[in-house]
Amino acid sequence: MLTGALLSHDPKALHYSDLVRDPRVEKARQLLLEALESHRSKITQVRPPNPDLVPAYQAELDRLTKARGAATYFPYISSGLGNGPLIELGDGSVKLDFIVGIGVHGMGHSDPRMLSATIDAALEDTVMQGNLQHDSASLWMCERLIALSREQGAKLDHCLLSTSGAMANENSLKIAFHNRAPASRVICIDNCFAGRSIALAALTDRPAYRTGVPKALDVDYLPMYHPSDPQGTTQGAIRTLKHLIERYPGQHACLWLELVAGEGGYYPGTKEYFETLCQICHDHKILVIFDEVQTFSRLSRPFAFQHFGLDRFADIVTLGKITQVCATLYGESLKPKGPLLSQTFTAATASIRAGLSVLDHLEKSKCFGDDGWNMQRHRYFRSKLEALSKKHPGKLSGPYGEGMMIAFTPGDGSSATASKMLGKLYDFGLMGFLAGSNPTRLRFLPPPGVTTNEHIDMACKIIEAALESV
Ligand SMILES: Cc1ncc(COP(=O)(O)O)c(C=O)c1O
Repeated sequence: MLTGALLSHDPKALHYSDLVRDPRVEKARQLLLEALESHRSKITQVRPPNPDLVPAYQAELDRLTKARGAATYFPYISSGLGNGPLIELGDGSVKLDFIVGIGVHGMGHSDPRMLSATIDAALEDTVMQGNLQHDSASLWMCERLIALSREQGAKLDHCLLSTSGAMANENSLKIAFHNRAPASRVICIDNCFAGRSIALAALTDRPAYRTGVPKALDVDYLPMYHPSDPQGTTQGAIRTLKHLIERYPGQHACLWLELVAGEGGYYPGTKEYFETLCQICHDHKILVIFDEVQTFSRLSRPFAFQHFGLDRFADIVTLGKITQVCATLYGESLKPKGPLLSQTFTAATASIRAGLSVLDHLEKSKCFGDDGWNMQRHRYFRSKLEALSKKHPGKLSGPYGEGMMIAFTPGDGSSATASKMLGKLYDFGLMGFLAGSNPTRLRFLPPPGVTTNEHIDMACKIIEAALESV
């Protein structure tokens, strides 16, 4: 049964405790949950738009384009109701959402556990939490993330909540520079993506994302691991790293790593590749930052650094998206000396409560483990995509990725072919997104909390129909 509100403070003397225990609150919760269930349960299949709703929907999209100053990538405005990975749009269509806001909605759409958590949040005194005023749930979230990160021995002691992955990464870089001053350079891997601030645009390996923006950081890149040449690419990265350290002695504050390149095209590295690079940095007092904004909760362990067995190198870790609130974790020895880190908002009260309920569900539902749901679903999806690749030679290669991050390359790998296929999938009812360039891939981030093999079958049927139509 879905429980009542999480109590911030249990002592009976508190008025707040009386409020959340008030039978009217529980009754209202149950009524809302029942209403949600009876309506969301009608959404079971993808379906095309309702022609009667299309003109008004198009007018709304046009207004959105005007207000934003640019069209949205997909002609997507949700109706407000979904069911797991299925989402109803304002034109009456239903899509199978295997990209979930680029990895954000790990419980899919209209999840009752998320509704219950946000009811708890709605009863709290403020909509937002911040660095001057925290609620108990902020503490629970920090403690929970620290405890999860330490499960295999990482020495992470502190947690700073923030509203975006970019801010979590900004904080991680600040901590690194502050502790290694005057070192001012960062080492990254080719193809990386770190976020959209000015500093992170300098780090992200996409020149188009910083057109006209002044250079904020000195960044050096290492070649990415590639399965076509494991030895060659690993040795190449080691050689480049040693060369950079010699060329700029004492000038690198940190090595910043995505363990599965997300925006870059779903390229996972290997334990050996990362271990060697991290060890060299460790030996040279260069801090290691793992960016888990996209990977968190999608592999065999909550953190990708745990999946790859790199716990001892985790100096600073960032995460976000699926947790609904973003965070920077760091060890005691890196605690800033001075008022370096703060924001007005740490997160919405609802985000923190909802994030806790996501963590509860992922753990209870056995998403993690070598044979947990994430890895089982990956194998199932992979086998289906491999079968499609054999059946339609030249139209689909791959799959690539790890856990609940999976991608394939359509046709010739050009961005035009990938965009065309992505559009077709959308029209046929499946939502994915692009990743990487040369080749450009189509990626999927199915919501780990609710995706079943039946949903994967549904996705593969749509992929096959799209392949047959080109
Ligand atoms: C690996 C990685 N880091 C950082 C970010 C930035 O997160 P946000 O968009 O929440 O600022 C993203 C976003 O896609 C990401 O994939």
